Amino acid sequence: MNAKRSVGILATGSYTPDRVLTNFDLEKMVDTSDEWIVSRTGIRERRISSSEQASSDLAFEAAKRALEKANISAEQLDMIIVATVTPDMMFPSTACILQEKLGAKRAAALDVSAACTGFLYGITTATQFITTGMYKYVLVVGVETLSKITNYKDRNTCVLFGDGAGAALIGEVNEGFGFQSFELGADGSGGPLLCQPAGGSRIPASSESVENNLHYLSMAGGEVFKFAVRVMNSATEAVLTKAGITKEEIDLLVPHQANKRIIDAAVQRFGLSEEKVAINLDRYGNMSSASIPVALDEAVQAGRVKEGDHIVLVGFGGGLTWGASLLKWSTTPVEGSEQ
Ligand code: UT7
Repeated sequence: MNAKRSVGILATGSYTPDRVLTNFDLEKMVDTSDEWIVSRTGIRERRISSSEQASSDLAFEAAKRALEKANISAEQLDMIIVATVTPDMMFPSTACILQEKLGAKRAAALDVSAACTGFLYGITTATQFITTGMYKYVLVVGVETLSKITNYKDRNTCVLFGDGAGAALIGEVNEGFGFQSFELGADGSGGPLLCQPAGGSRIPASSESVENNLHYLSMAGGEVFKFAVRVMNSATEAVLTKAGITKEEIDLLVPHQANKRIIDAAVQRFGLSEEKVAINLDRYGNMSSASIPVALDEAVQAGRVKEGDHIVLVGFGGGLTWGASLLKWSTTPVEGSEQ
């Protein structure tokens, strides 16, 4: 086994549902205003999945697009990792459901539960399998149907979240390219700040848990905000230091899309100009684990990413968790690798 394989993102894909829920729609549902939502969060609209769409359906569309772009068949996948806190069901994993939909017969499959940091946990995990030579192609999908666990009577949360999926095919790239560094962290003491209280073994589903709204996402927004600003900075600094890259060398920052004010704090801290930051929360709101891969895919599609660019992916979320990665962009597979 070669312990020094360079690993990167060979292709990306994304999918968001057609239905748009605007701030003006929300004004008719709860005591809020477009002005409050835009000024406090930067969000203008979000996508909502249909009653027939579960997370694996969104994941399937995003995955198909990434595989098509890489010109890889589903049968070539060695592993599927799905990052989500809105799985189709408690078990089997959404990754197993996706494996069946794709026809990825050879692939091992597992879900990662790290809330909005899930995609970063997923790509870090995928990289280990490829670096060691155990696997060649790992598909990582960040997908959420948060609308299914959002209380549309609670203005504190319902204006924030949306649905979507982003996929990345992880594989070997030429030496020196790909992931240069990772940083992952967790602080379980902050778990209650952002959670879905019922439906697991602590509070199993009952008519009482439903009556008490315990199946909805619950968040202490202010506390999470302060934590987010802190770890966005520290995680970004950590991956820059580990990779020996200065903040001036960042070509694109792809942050978790929770609140424009959180992103602005990081942008200011690292002295980045607007064209060096990928932002899509105005159109999608917070899609948790899907936010980063969708923003990355859109940046790639818009031609904002070129070979050799230094890209920082950084996020935070429930757990509490946080993570970052610094990537030297290349989608060129290693020479001699059949695709
Ligand atoms: O990805 C997962 C991680 N999640 C996050 O990163 C979210 C982090 N937190 C945030 O983004 C912000 O804390 C929020 C956007 C959730 C809230 O913004 P805030 O500036 O922290 O507002 P606040 O919670 O301090 O609320 C200020 C006021 C309150 O009214 P009073 O008590 O001052 O009278 C709220 O009741 O704004 C009120 N408010 C609203 N007003 C109109 C809260 N939500 C709304 C709303 N429309 N939708």
